[in-house]
Amino acid sequence: MYLRTWDDYEHHSLKLTAHSTSGIRRTALRAASQEALERRVKAIEAAGLGVGWADGDAGIGPTYRFTDPDGHDFELYWESEWYDPPEHLRPSLKNQAQAYPGRGVSVRRLDHVNFLAAATEPNGDFVRDVLGGRVTEQIRLDSGKISAQWLHFATKSYDLVYTEDWTGRNGRLHHIAFAPDTREDILRAADICLDNGVFIETGPHKHAIQQTFFLYVYEPGGNRIELCNPVARLILAPDWRPITWTEAERAKGQAWGLKTIDSFHTHGTPSAD
Ligand SMILES: [Fe+2]
Repeated sequence: MYLRTWDDYEHHSLKLTAHSTSGIRRTALRAASQEALERRVKAIEAAGLGVGWADGDAGIGPTYRFTDPDGHDFELYWESEWYDPPEHLRPSLKNQAQAYPGRGVSVRRLDHVNFLAAATEPNGDFVRDVLGGRVTEQIRLDSGKISAQWLHFATKSYDLVYTEDWTGRNGRLHHIAFAPDTREDILRAADICLDNGVFIETGPHKHAIQQTFFLYVYEPGGNRIELCNPVARLILAPDWRPITWTEAERAKGQAWGLKTIDSFHTHGTPSAD
């Protein structure tokens, strides 16, 4: 099943496939051009993490499959079929992908993917050195180990996140995040989840890191979904200096003092059981 957030310009934002367990099957990233795609494929092959070319899924052209060092599946593509709304979903203002649906939480875009990894740093290094991303924020433990890294590719302050998996497993998902327009939408989302029997894990509250206003819920398959309202905070500095949070700073909890819930460190998908 193909699902689209309402302002996604592409054919789909998410593809649901039946499986015996939960988790994220593959994360697709769009290159900036055909030339950029070819450059990245060369870099991935040189890093020894390439899998090979595959015929495009619905709405996308040829895709190059690879993995990160932790074993999460990825693919990279350039050709993409832009979404063409049917008449009844055509927006009045032509600079949005479709008319505002006003249904459910009405998520506007797929905002970011947060992976769990047995070790975060090799994956952050891979995204930076091979895929061309940059670290915007990170957590460094007293031991010197980097336990989480937020990386971005353009001006939005993060697109991919790696968090240390305390179970030591590889290839798991922490959460996928979807963004509606406003903070108020996040509060309404909490009410909608409550009325629909969707498990609320934590929030609404505001993260200290990246200052994102958040709500975390589990979808029926067990995957953690974040509904997020990132503040209008863009990374415009080409020489951005990564923000490093210490263990003591993290122990203070989230922005307004909410303690980080224990399951945040233990629940990932597929389940560790
Ligand atoms: Fe998140």
